[in-house]
Amino acid sequence: MKVRPIEPKDIPAVHNIEWECFSDSWSEKTLQSTMNEKGHSLFVAEEDGDVIGYGVTRQVLDECEILRIAVKKDSRKKGAGNLLMGFMVNSAVSNGAQLFFLEVREHNIPAIALYRKHGFIESGLRKEYYKDPVESAVLMSKCIPAC
Ligand SMILES: CC(C)(COP(=O)(O)OP(=O)(O)OC[C@H]1O[C@@H](n2cnc3c(N)ncnc32)[C@H](O)[C@@H]1OP(=O)(O)O)[C@@H](O)C(=O)NCCC(=O)NCCS
Repeated sequence: MKVRPIEPKDIPAVHNIEWECFSDSWSEKTLQSTMNEKGHSLFVAEEDGDVIGYGVTRQVLDECEILRIAVKKDSRKKGAGNLLMGFMVNSAVSNGAQLFFLEVREHNIPAIALYRKHGFIESGLRKEYYKDPVESAVLMSKCIPAC
């Protein structure tokens, strides 16, 4: 398993995972335009030539937001999420990031556990922020060096 920057040929596979994982899934067109947007970085996790996961960050100066991370259902719990998070954080740090932040559904236990494992701490709550289904968002952040 390895993580690498996304290539245009990966878009359909990433879109399938997006569709499988999120009720507000991004279209192929949105993924394509995000690839070309300033400050955005997209990475894929690949196993035996197949894209099994991906992650998206947006960096402005020393701040980096984790916009997306997802792994195909049948490839979970094998370390891909961990590998993607580590790769995204290290890549942003090498581009000068010091503050990381993200939003996550409050009942998304696997994602919250993954973020905690990578040093993120809960820093706020947005009541009923998500739709379909309605759910609050937990805000999480992490500083490098630790704040
Ligand atoms: C969150 C997600 C990316 C994790 O991917 P994954 O490849 O299964 O994660 P890994 O196998 O690398 O596990 C890394 C850590 O995540 C946490 N984790 C993963 N699955 C978990 C589960 N079912 N329950 C609790 N913790 C879990 C654990 O801390 C785990 O570390 P450990 O193995 O030492 O316990 C995956 O569950 C996913 O794609 N979910 C749907 C999309 C999503 O919700 N994305 C986040 C949006 S904010």
